[in-house]
Amino acid sequence: MNSGIFLNNTQQLSFPSRIILIGFMGSGKSTVGKLLASSLDYQYMDTDALIEKMEGMSVSDIFAKHGESYFRKLESEVIKTLTDYESIVISTGGGMPVFENNMALLNKAGITIFLNVGVETIYQRISKDNTRPLVTANTDATLKDFIKNKLQERIPFYKQAQVLVAGGRNPRLVVKTILTKIATKKQH
Ligand code: S3P
Repeated sequence: MNSGIFLNNTQQLSFPSRIILIGFMGSGKSTVGKLLASSLDYQYMDTDALIEKMEGMSVSDIFAKHGESYFRKLESEVIKTLTDYESIVISTGGGMPVFENNMALLNKAGITIFLNVGVETIYQRISKDNTRPLVTANTDATLKDFIKNKLQERIPFYKQAQVLVAGGRNPRLVVKTILTKIATKKQH
């Protein structure tokens, strides 16, 4: 698939070289990111996967062995390397925008897209997940409140993104909205 499905060539040529997806766990960053990358003929990268490769262990193991603050330091290091990449869609970990001056750095590194998804959808998508340490730290009874509180805390950071898009829909529609919003933004 290529973006010809969604946009004409002139619009495609003017696309920013780094498109950075931010948002809560379960907001669809990976699914939408991969689809967006293939629609633009861009590469796709996930900051969690990059960190796992750097450390030679899973995010869960990093949290368990070294703690969350160590993981957050790795995230901040990774941000500084993002400008090394061109023609790429980058999915970020859900907490990345919240720490240090990460959101400002992300906004400098590329065009940032916030995938906005509600508590219920997030809960449905992540409640059975056993790879996310912040999810497995909760019980079924506490998870929804955890999501509600964390999301509320993080929203002000996510809203610093340059483009806000409603997630929680068919990924192809979300990609189409992102492409249109970026193309429209470029014209102003
Ligand atoms: C986290 C989200 C995860 C991962 C880590 C912490 C968070 O990424 O970075 O488990 O703080 O929300 P995803 O958003 O890709 O699940």
